[in-house]
Amino acid sequence: MAVIREVKPAREMRRIGSHSHIRGLGLDEKGRAKFIADGMVGQVEAREAAGIVVQMIKEGRMAGRGVLIVGPSGTGKTAIAVGIAKELGEDTPFVAMSGSEIYSSELKKTEVLMQAIRKAIGVRIKVHKDVYEGVVTRIRIAYVKHPFNPYVRVPSEAEITLETRDDSRTLRVGEEVAAQLIQLRVRKGDVIWIDAETGEVYKVGRACEKESKRYDVSYFRCVDIPDGPVRKRKEIVHTLTLHDLDVAYAAQRTAFATLLGMPATREIPSEVRQRVDEEVKKMINEGRAELVPGVLFIDDAHMLDIEAFSFLTRAMESELAPILVLATNRGVTKIRGTDIESPHGIPLDLLDRLLIIKTRPYKAEEIREILRIRADEEEIPLTEEALEELTKLGVERSLRYAVQLMEPARIIAEREGRNKVTAEDVKKAAEYFVDVRESIRYIRELEEEFLK
Ligand SMILES: Nc1ncnc2c1ncn2[C@@H]1O[C@H](COP(=O)(O)OP(=O)(O)OP(=O)(O)O)[C@@H](O)[C@H]1O
Ligand SMILES: [Mg+2]
Repeated sequence: MAVIREVKPAREMRRIGSHSHIRGLGLDEKGRAKFIADGMVGQVEAREAAGIVVQMIKEGRMAGRGVLIVGPSGTGKTAIAVGIAKELGEDTPFVAMSGSEIYSSELKKTEVLMQAIRKAIGVRIKVHKDVYEGVVTRIRIAYVKHPFNPYVRVPSEAEITLETRDDSRTLRVGEEVAAQLIQLRVRKGDVIWIDAETGEVYKVGRACEKESKRYDVSYFRCVDIPDGPVRKRKEIVHTLTLHDLDVAYAAQRTAFATLLGMPATREIPSEVRQRVDEEVKKMINEGRAELVPGVLFIDDAHMLDIEAFSFLTRAMESELAPILVLATNRGVTKIRGTDIESPHGIPLDLLDRLLIIKTRPYKAEEIREILRIRADEEEIPLTEEALEELTKLGVERSLRYAVQLMEPARIIAEREGRNKVTAEDVKKAAEYFVDVRESIRYIRELEEEFLK
């Protein structure tokens, strides 16, 4: 008898970060916040303020300055920082860390900060290369059997036609290039270039004017069809960070040091950074490179200590400095490592250099929409009543608590054979998992009982 088994579709396993729904700040051309856009809801003034900061960064008018985002827990401080990163685009480095990360056991606090700062400064380097560039109008890849495994086909060569507005050339390329074409999924209509010397293939995007409009263009970058000859000398721009350059330079020295039997360290020697800075400055002066100051975002900034703060204050004044964005939910508190109280636990001399943005607690309709977006993002189907129940918990307890309960509620619903979460499921989840206020009350109550 034939065996037939039904296969239950597995829920796709993917880890969803808690800010994965945020695609930008959701502002219009005038910089005004739309109530819901780019995954952002409400918190209008803070988003608009962040939009101004983004413009200042893009115009290069933020150097040596910083931003502090303050507000109660769960009011979207981290979300806004993520929004800033998205608005800045891929080319501007954005480094996010938490204040507590400086207490690593392997590296000195100042080394952790120094590396973060260097990762947040981009260097756009221009090089000239001979390339074949154009839109792919024909591509044919020839395969042969793998020499050791007859069931596997491997590319042997490819023939590809590249066109510009003025020129057309057909190239026959070897297996390495063919393999790259496959790996990059180069198709008709893609704009690519191939390094004439090394055979390295680079996909620029799609020539969308050849495409009908029914595709969602956001999946790929739309680019123009290039002009001029297919084979040409092209200026190519790489964006690296100072940290990338430090590591590359230090690796060279380490390789040499290991040969001589010297111990390797994870710390980057300061001479290396000096050399890199000198090289970069030289390239900038010769017009071969450009500096791209990025953003160093430090969440839970009250976790930094006095040493870290003075290091950052000094670093902000140096000529190669990123823009510092701090966030905290603390009011007046002790600066770590001292007995001094200061607003937000941050020393005054640093505070003076920061623009402060505040986030305010959410209203019910904001919480409802954020929960709706999160449910969608985590693929948890909710009934309207379940959403209302969660909104109520969000208002009475906290937004985070309501977000946290969604997954347990989904499991409860699934066990009951429902594919939509109901208000009952949410209530049940809230019985199983308490919020912090309740957990503290519980311990206190037990302690009192114990003391009697
Ligand atoms: N205005 C908003 N629009 C959309 N999602 C938001 C908004 N504000 C917060 N969120 C989401 O709600 C959750 C909590 O917000 P977030 O982590 O940004 O708070 P926070 O202010 O950084 O809190 P904490 O002080 O505890 O770090 C996150 O998943 C976040 O992405
Ligand atoms: Mg946060």
